[in-house]
Amino acid sequence: MAKLIEHPLVQHKLAIIRDVETGHKRFRELATEITEFICYEALQSVRTKEIDVQTPVGVAACRMIDTDLVVVPILRAGVGMLEGILELIPTARVGFVGLYRDEETKLPVTYYERYPPQIKGGTCIIIDPMIATGGSTAAAIEQLKEHGADNIIVICIVTCPEGIELVETAHPDVPIYAAAIDEKLNENKYIVPGLGDAGDRLFGTSHH
Ligand code: PRP
Ligand code: URA
Repeated sequence: MAKLIEHPLVQHKLAIIRDVETGHKRFRELATEITEFICYEALQSVRTKEIDVQTPVGVAACRMIDTDLVVVPILRAGVGMLEGILELIPTARVGFVGLYRDEETKLPVTYYERYPPQIKGGTCIIIDPMIATGGSTAAAIEQLKEHGADNIIVICIVTCPEGIELVETAHPDVPIYAAAIDEKLNENKYIVPGLGDAGDRLFGTSHH
């Protein structure tokens, strides 16, 4: 399932982050802001428990989140969304999966993995701004499942039909939340119109 976050605040910020004129400082701020809104929506049905809270006046029937939350950025660009998640869930644990797309084959290569044990039994939130072919996200889900995760959601900023299809086919149990589902991939497997190379734009490593 792919869920598009159509709220005007998200779409407004998306328009600015896409703009080729937006520099890396503003790009990073917008990635954080957009992530906060998508995360808020994505946690709509997270498991909660009912508790009674003693207020100064009486007892209030309350709900609190009842699952360990583990956020897993896909290195490198996923790190640009980490601050946004931690703003909303300061107690989240953080795992890392390092994947890059081989420039020739366009296939994901895993180069780093480090997860907290709570991925087993907890709720894992994979973050990556771009799901293009879907190969990186599908590989990250695969790695987490191999380490025992069975409750995974994915938050991205921009994706496209090809990426959604690959991830959904391989992992129909994993919902994807996105601010945009763009038209297509180009011959370099970049999302069109997308926002370019998210890692380069976040970290100021592009050559133009
Ligand atoms: C980008 C992006 C995703 C991946 C998407 O990372 O952040 O991880 O490509 O492509 P896919 O859906 O076709 O797999 P990249 O490989 O450029 O690495 P980086 O984050 O280190 O820049
Ligand atoms: N990775 C990116 O950063 N952008 C794309 O459009 C595709 C892959």
